[in-house]
Amino acid sequence: MTPATLAPQVRQRTIAKARTLLDALPFLREHWGTTIVIKVGGAVMERAPLSLSFAKDLALLQHVGIHPLIVHGGGPQVTEVSARLGLPVAFVDGLRVTDADTLDVATMVLAGKLNTEIVATLLAGDVPAVGLSGVDGGLVVVRRRPDPDLGFVGDVVRVDVEVARTLMDRRFVPVVASIAVDESGQTFNVNADAVAAELAVGLGAHKLVYMSDVPGVLGRGGELLSELGSREVADLLRDGAVVEGGMIPKLESAARALEGGVPRVHLLDGRVEHALVLELFTPEGVGTMIVAEGPPGPGSVERVPGPSPVSDREGAR
Ligand SMILES: Nc1ncnc2c1ncn2[C@@H]1O[C@H](COP(=O)(O)OP(=O)(O)OP(=O)(O)O)[C@@H](O)[C@H]1O
Ligand SMILES: [Mg+2]
Repeated sequence: MTPATLAPQVRQRTIAKARTLLDALPFLREHWGTTIVIKVGGAVMERAPLSLSFAKDLALLQHVGIHPLIVHGGGPQVTEVSARLGLPVAFVDGLRVTDADTLDVATMVLAGKLNTEIVATLLAGDVPAVGLSGVDGGLVVVRRRPDPDLGFVGDVVRVDVEVARTLMDRRFVPVVASIAVDESGQTFNVNADAVAAELAVGLGAHKLVYMSDVPGVLGRGGELLSELGSREVADLLRDGAVVEGGMIPKLESAARALEGGVPRVHLLDGRVEHALVLELFTPEGVGTMIVAEGPPGPGSVERVPGPSPVSDREGAR
């Protein structure tokens, strides 16, 4: 049957679908061949390790030529198992105080249970995922954080992305748990946001995406801050009243990624279905976008080539 012989309402729907695909063309062009690091927070995985719809979003990304790497957290899950075992749970500025028992729990929960479950869900969604931790292939090397002493909490010293690149070149999607190693072979718990930022820098990623359980960075009155420059991020961190808990290492990591040459960092609400696809392939940016220097004024961001009438800012999000 040719389109001309379709019922008018079916024809309209068919054409609307074709338009949707064509509208995505500038974004497909922009992202083709690029690397995107996506960090999925533990908070959005509280009920299920990852949704199948997220897995399908990721499959779409891969099929349009994007090379994704996933880093995952698991804060609430580590807390839950620690509490069940009667271990103390404490945080300082959003970082978990990690004694030897808590390190055991973090390793079992993050690099064992959660990592395996995430990989299984991604495979079910047609994503050829491979589970790793920062220890594998010396991917993430840390040293003990000196001040304040939080126990087995590491600061990233360097990343060696060769194992990740080798997998990605063969179209596998690495899924990295945030356990890392120091020069002596001691393992450490590392904030997953920091791991994602350093891997994004090491891989020369085009974007770093944080998926959490909030709409984005929220301001003093709880309003969504949809665009921030790195200077504003520094102000928010200095202020101390607006940004608390897990948002502190997240924004510090975002700043580090921008400093290391990652052009854009996005904070998306992982509870919103298809948030990733909406952000990458439609002009409607969701969540918070963070760019180097001041907030982008009109014309300060490169125009996306293509036929779609998207504005400078929207097209380049
Ligand atoms: N200004 C702010 N805007 C948004 N969220 C904030 C702000 N200040 C503090 N937060 C808190 O930061 C939390 C997100 O960080 P959190 O570390 O809990 O999640 P995650 O990093 O996604 O998960 P995980 O640490 O398990 O990987 C939010 O749930 C919110 O409670
Ligand atoms: Mg966190």
